[in-house]
Amino acid sequence: MAKPLARNSKLKSTTSLSQRVAIVIMAAGKGTRLKSKHPKVLHEIGGKPILAHVVETAARVIAPSNIFVIIGHEAERVRDAVGRTGVNFVVQAEQRGTGHALMVAREALAPFDQVIVLSGDAPLITRETIENLSAFHAAQKATMTLLSAEIANPFGYGRVLRKSAKSPEVRAIVEEKAANSAQRKIREINSGFYVFSVPALYQHISQLSTENAHREYYLTDMARIFYHAHKKVVAFKTADAAEVLGTNTRTEIVDLDARLRLAKCRELMAEGVTIFYPETCVIDSDVTVGADTVIEPFVQLLGKTRVGADCRISSYSVLKDTEVADGVVINPLTVTDDARIGAGAIVGPYSRLRPGSDIGENARVGNFVETKKMHLGKGSKAPHLTYLGDAEIGEGVNVGAGTITCNYDGVHKHKTVIEDGVFVGSDSTLVAPVKIGRGAYIAAASCITENVPADALALGRARQSTKEGWAKAKRGAPKAKTE
Ligand code: UD1
Ligand code: CA
Repeated sequence: MAKPLARNSKLKSTTSLSQRVAIVIMAAGKGTRLKSKHPKVLHEIGGKPILAHVVETAARVIAPSNIFVIIGHEAERVRDAVGRTGVNFVVQAEQRGTGHALMVAREALAPFDQVIVLSGDAPLITRETIENLSAFHAAQKATMTLLSAEIANPFGYGRVLRKSAKSPEVRAIVEEKAANSAQRKIREINSGFYVFSVPALYQHISQLSTENAHREYYLTDMARIFYHAHKKVVAFKTADAAEVLGTNTRTEIVDLDARLRLAKCRELMAEGVTIFYPETCVIDSDVTVGADTVIEPFVQLLGKTRVGADCRISSYSVLKDTEVADGVVINPLTVTDDARIGAGAIVGPYSRLRPGSDIGENARVGNFVETKKMHLGKGSKAPHLTYLGDAEIGEGVNVGAGTITCNYDGVHKHKTVIEDGVFVGSDSTLVAPVKIGRGAYIAAASCITENVPADALALGRARQSTKEGWAKAKRGAPKAKTE
């Protein structure tokens, strides 16, 4: 149910108190220009779907229960991608244009006075601009308010035809294909964001027609319809044109992604993080990094990764959904996924932490070490050439070079337990399920198939036999030199 706006503190100051406000996000289109099998709004920028950015911003303006996403093309996939936020969905089964998208939302919007319409494919819009647009609409007592922007290359966008240069009032919006050469020179474009009076919109929406280049109902035509009905249509020009850029082509998606990531780096730097060559780093929108952490060139921090303070993340490392505590050193070329790294730990170079890896405080994981679903205790070390999977490893353990946990018998996975203070000699294979007791010692090159009690020495290798003179005899006596 619609909540009276008065209860929503965020818009209270900008709109009249009695107004009930909804947000509609248009996201039903296919995105033909992307030549993709995936719906346009699910293409990603900043590491998450384009639509997710718009939904998040909308949810900063009003409660998700008053937000309606119009879905159609691949509706279920789009619903799955943003459903968790608590927003509502309206299905536009056939996509017959932006005007048609609002026609199908009629019932959903009935309880509201005002609707803010956002484009699901324009993800850089900010909360401030939405609020300013809504406030301008109220102050102007307008029936329709559109967000416009002045851009250098307006090609492809609808152009704003004002009543006169200085007037906020608009006569019509003309689409690129319908514009004459004089109109094409207008650099003030329609951004695809609007505010409407809900009763007036549905009183006049049936006047839309499909007599245009695309044979679609254009929401933009509402400007001309209202103008002729002597209802006030105004344009609110945004100061930052970059906010309204759309993602109709692959080039535009990549351009917006780059803008968003650079902005993310600047935001982190403002919070005390040093990022060298930020244009080479790929940091997703939701990543957090603590102060005095240094990020070297060509680092990727993805998904829900959280990095603590005073860390160093070296070049060519890719951390996805990874929690890094304070004071951690990640050496070059480290790859992690769904892992946790405790305070003061040192990882890499060339380490691979797979899902479920949990590296303890001050622990050390070195080069060519692969881990999976395991815990390495406080201060334990696995410095070289090792595989540790399905393992529970205690504190102060030394895992020698070339150690392998044999966790898979071809059918099932089994666990290796290594208790505190164990020393595992180099080139040992630990055949799981197996347990090495506290303080035990595994001789180098052992194949351990049985549990080892605490403080024991286990040797699991053939005894060495040495045959004196054998090599020399095989080579035979050196031949006498002939002149
Ligand atoms: C639209 C505007 C144009 C403006 C531009 C700004 C129209 C007719 N034109 O053009 O004036 O300059 O945005 O970016 O509105 N959608 C639906 N259902 C549909 C059709 C589209 O939900 O039936 C959604 C799309 O998924 C998209 C949004 O509406 O998220 C905009 O549609 P799109 O086709 O990208 O419009 P533009 O051609 O960019
Ligand atoms: Ca568009």
